[in-house]
Amino acid sequence: MKKIGMISAATLMASGVAAWADELSVVCSAEQDWCDLMVGAFEAENPDTDVLMVRKSTGETLAQIRAEAGNPKIDVWWGGTGDPHLIAAEEGLTQPSGVDTSKLLGWAQNMAEISEGRTVGIYAGALGIAYNTEILADKGIAPPECWADLADPRFEGEIQVANPNSSGTAYTELATFVQLFGEDEAMERLAAIGANVNSYTKSGSAPTKAAARGETGVSIGFMHDMVNQAAIGFPLAIVAPCEGTGYEVGAVSIIEGARNLEGAQAWVEFALRADIQSRAPEVGSFQVPSNSNASVAPQSPDLASIKLIDYDFATYGSSETRERLLARWDVEVGDPNPQQ
Ligand code: F6P
Repeated sequence: MKKIGMISAATLMASGVAAWADELSVVCSAEQDWCDLMVGAFEAENPDTDVLMVRKSTGETLAQIRAEAGNPKIDVWWGGTGDPHLIAAEEGLTQPSGVDTSKLLGWAQNMAEISEGRTVGIYAGALGIAYNTEILADKGIAPPECWADLADPRFEGEIQVANPNSSGTAYTELATFVQLFGEDEAMERLAAIGANVNSYTKSGSAPTKAAARGETGVSIGFMHDMVNQAAIGFPLAIVAPCEGTGYEVGAVSIIEGARNLEGAQAWVEFALRADIQSRAPEVGSFQVPSNSNASVAPQSPDLASIKLIDYDFATYGSSETRERLLARWDVEVGDPNPQQ
């Protein structure tokens, strides 16, 4: 039996806490390489803990947490866009972590304020458009500069984006369009873009990986995922849309009823540390870190130079808003071939 802090596993067993207390179940909604780095680094500092980690998109994770309410299999949810974390908080599916947020940037503290401490920001990143420069040049297609361009027939069959039901990235896009254009016009514009979409993926970064490899001409996603692919050497150009764009605050939350609460709290503290956040670029994750003392990679998109909307996390991170927008999206935009 492993030991948990100063308390032996035998003592925990006797007190009704089972042996799973030396296992920490984490769902990670960031990129797989970053998830792996975090697990390795956490286990290196906490050799008595086995971290059991799976990668799942943000909307899929929210669905799992809802389904497991009252009997959760997950202790901590790390990464993924903030709106579904806020929704989990509102629905009582997560619990306050009690962490010190004083070293965090304002947008990260804002998540804790809205959720009464149930979630907190770990990184930020802006939404954008990427295109494969070789494909567009070969086909003689003028590159996009604005969201409006993506509805142009010249992009027929060329665009890939994720499904907002499963992907936090695509929900951020949906919420961004509503904030830029109003709800009715947003649906019309997304449906017009939808006429050019060749596939709606489950994960938010998949379209950009496809564009990088020439499987599609254009992707919608987070700019840091685009920078990742361009840095590898793929012929990808990144566009900050002319109308302005939305952004995510990635978050971390402890699940209500977590079996390993002590481990989950240790994970949240670990995830907010400047030295830990500064390691993300080692694995090509170029989000802006939330700890004000963490280093920002030179490749990270400079949020100050992008025309960002004043994203309303309280509204778009509420259950009622998300359910209404997704229901409208399903009917008015829709995915003809939803992936299982
Ligand atoms: O790839 C990393 C990332 O873009 C994160 O910044 C973001 O929180 C997450 O993916 C969203 O993933 P998905 O759209 O699959 O929910």
